[in-house]
Amino acid sequence: MTMTTDAAAAQGEAAGKPVWSSQLGFILAAAGSAVGLGNIWKFPYMTGENGGGAFVLVYLGCIALVGIPALMTEMLVGRRGGHSPIQSVRDVVAEARAPRAWGWIGIISTLAAFLTLAFYSVVAGWAMPFVGHSIAGFDAADPEAVQALFPNLLAAPDQLLMWHTVFMVMTIFISARGINRGIEAAVKVMMPTLVLILMLLIGYSAVMNMDSLRQAVVFLFRPNFGALTTESTLSALGHAFFTLSLASGSMLAYGSYLSKSTPIVRTAVTVAAVDTAVALMAGLAIFPLVFQYGMEPAAGPGLVFATLPLAFAQMPGGDILGPVFFILLVIAAWTSSLSMIESVVEWLQEKGIGRTASAILAGGAAWALGILCLLSLNVMSGFAPLSFIPALEDKGMMDALDYIVTNVLMPLGALALAIFVGYIMPKDALRDELSTSARAFGIVRGMIRTITPIGILVIFLTNLI
Ligand code: PFF
Repeated sequence: MTMTTDAAAAQGEAAGKPVWSSQLGFILAAAGSAVGLGNIWKFPYMTGENGGGAFVLVYLGCIALVGIPALMTEMLVGRRGGHSPIQSVRDVVAEARAPRAWGWIGIISTLAAFLTLAFYSVVAGWAMPFVGHSIAGFDAADPEAVQALFPNLLAAPDQLLMWHTVFMVMTIFISARGINRGIEAAVKVMMPTLVLILMLLIGYSAVMNMDSLRQAVVFLFRPNFGALTTESTLSALGHAFFTLSLASGSMLAYGSYLSKSTPIVRTAVTVAAVDTAVALMAGLAIFPLVFQYGMEPAAGPGLVFATLPLAFAQMPGGDILGPVFFILLVIAAWTSSLSMIESVVEWLQEKGIGRTASAILAGGAAWALGILCLLSLNVMSGFAPLSFIPALEDKGMMDALDYIVTNVLMPLGALALAIFVGYIMPKDALRDELSTSARAFGIVRGMIRTITPIGILVIFLTNLI
């Protein structure tokens, strides 16, 4: 029998390195990383802005052709190295006797994770006061006041700082407890809760207003290619990366705790399928409400914070579903931030720092950078810290970080890793890690060598140009 139970965890811990206690534990943790604000906040508003069905179709294609093979490369390099992303990449590069410069992939990925954590925590912090607002109830008689809650929050640095701090402390707290007692224990409760909440929200529309649910299905699944632009195609590809937590250390770090018996190909496909299913479910939860109350699907980033509260204000049971929805957003963000901090924590631990101190150090540094991000939304809104770089000329700290991570670091890291795994890593080592049938191996390796890097190169160059 393969060792996929607590025995594996115990043995790993005894050797000084934790191991996920089961395949399910890893799948939940990796899916927890993938499922986040990207699925519940970003995917619905991007779909709304880009006209619906055709965007969804392109996004699904990007996940299948570029995202899944890239996810496999991260999991397998992480497991083969068995260390922090920085060290694992170095180990695998050394094993391949490749030039040491390839080691930069690990550094770029860890940097991307750290920078993402800084602004992600600020955005996650937006959701928390809305739990309170929706428990108190949105006032249907005063729609302007309801819509003003979100801009007012962005204009209040003290509020933003408080919620950013609460969220970062929550992240540090679970991370400090370690892989098995912290992350794995948390995702085992949080991921099923998240799916139940989404089912509840979709079920509500099915029972209360089947027509608007039907309208949402048409919006999400009937492709209207007229609405598709080159830019929306590229944002679908970029979002496929972000939503699968690619090129940001997370999957490399989580892969390093993976037991040898876990099949990478199947696991990566499962994680991507869960992530995609949750994004589509989020669309099916949100759009029926948007349509039912005659609101604008293309409202942009304010879709869930300014538009949706108006629906909660008017609908029967909105005072229950409102808080439940915003709790869902916090849970989704929390399981993702755990994976971002892990790349840095694992690296600090290798430097001989204890787990708790590493979590505090990594989280504390990201928290400090997050403060600059939240100030860029209000008091420092006119200040562009990196204005000497042409693409960042008019971007405040938050937008600049988002741009650097999503448009530069992530594609660069993923492209380099795909080329390394596809062309430089010895074929036998790859076969050993993928341990799948000869046919599946041929297909996966073929994709890693062709479609994946070409797809990434297209986003990268087009975004830069
Ligand atoms: N995949 C997360 C989301 O969709 O919200 C975001 C993310 C998590 C990005 C972890 C990067 C990362 F390392």
